[in-house]
Amino acid sequence: MNEAADFLSRAQAILRGNDTGGFTKPSLKQYPHQWNWDSAIIALGLSYFDLPRAYTEIRSLLRGQWDDGMLPHVIYDPVPSDYFPGPAFWKTDGRPITPGVRTSGITQPPLLATVLRLIHNRQPSLDFLREVYPAVLRWHRWMHTCRDADGSGLFCIIHPWESGTDDSPRWLRVMDNITPQNVPGFHRGDTIHVTQAERPHDADYLRFIHLIDVFRRNQYVPQRLLAHSPFLVQDVLFNAILYRADRDLKELAGILNEPAGEIDGWLEQMQVNFDQRFWDERDGLYYDFDICSGSPIRVNTGMTFMPLYAGIPDPQRAARLIEHHWQVPSEYAPDTLTRYMLPSTSKSEPLWDARRYWRGPVWILLNWMLADGLQQYGRDDLAEALEHDSLELMARSGFREYYDPRDGSACGATEFSWSAALAIVMSANKTPRQD
Ligand code: DGY
Repeated sequence: MNEAADFLSRAQAILRGNDTGGFTKPSLKQYPHQWNWDSAIIALGLSYFDLPRAYTEIRSLLRGQWDDGMLPHVIYDPVPSDYFPGPAFWKTDGRPITPGVRTSGITQPPLLATVLRLIHNRQPSLDFLREVYPAVLRWHRWMHTCRDADGSGLFCIIHPWESGTDDSPRWLRVMDNITPQNVPGFHRGDTIHVTQAERPHDADYLRFIHLIDVFRRNQYVPQRLLAHSPFLVQDVLFNAILYRADRDLKELAGILNEPAGEIDGWLEQMQVNFDQRFWDERDGLYYDFDICSGSPIRVNTGMTFMPLYAGIPDPQRAARLIEHHWQVPSEYAPDTLTRYMLPSTSKSEPLWDARRYWRGPVWILLNWMLADGLQQYGRDDLAEALEHDSLELMARSGFREYYDPRDGSACGATEFSWSAALAIVMSANKTPRQD
């Protein structure tokens, strides 16, 4: 077997190994349930070698949908595990539609519509699209109605886990303003299989759990969560993914001859408000917005480039992002300290930490989305370099959760499904190089 074929078969083996039959675990020990955006990417990877299994992945994700349209961030496997928090902690029983399915009470960035479009483009199936489209539309409707904190049409996250970037330094100030009170006793499960040095700090974790406690006391009623959550942030990452997913949902509506007026309305409103809310002309960066303090969160992380994936910035702003930040060695570009792109936090940030979760490591999912964004702006050179780095990291260090940008060594969970899935997707046009 040649090197490229061996790489692909190792990636497929990860997805097969993490497969429970109905859904795929992001990682056997660290994440032994079904995660929302992981599953979407896993389905995309599966579609390259087992399309029926990709459909099963998507169907099993949609089993978790709530009666109001929310698609939760975790759907629990009934098999007991050492993962915390489990369904007994969330206390969401009764909300999902499918009997017996237990879930978390928050959502995650909506990659599903984009993945459906990508799968359909390569392997069209109107029957499958027709089957799943109504549920995906309902989820988008929920995002545009139940979490609009100020009538801007922008989605407001109520927990760092909703952004998927749990301990990003951009949450620090907001988290500092939260005083956890009467937090029920708990034991972290996330530091059993991964070293504490690569996971969020205890102070962050305590606030993650406090927030869940606030939500369950408010019985997950959307208006009450917006009124009582001490964490309310309009997040560039989430909204960029949502805008892109709305665009893809609109394409799906066209393919199915479904009305798209409602989706057009969402896109128009976001288009008007996105740059107005997030773009900072002085720094030439996109910043998240803290609803509680009514001010931008001026922290420089890789999420600032996500509007490229959405196709939002005009060419001048895109060029400014790239030339004044992406290509600057003291922020993101390789230098004597780092070799691999893209560090998830700018090296110029005081909290930059090469191996700690979202404080600095390279993530394959971020790279995949940003390579797509760079291509949309005609920067195929940078997109190719990013995919090259991603494939090299996985070829050298295995399919891991994240990587140290200094030397490419592996961090976090082992046998990580979305890295393997994206290795398959990225390899479709390329061959990994080992020098
Ligand atoms: C975790 O358990 O660390 C996850 O990020 C929550 O989704």
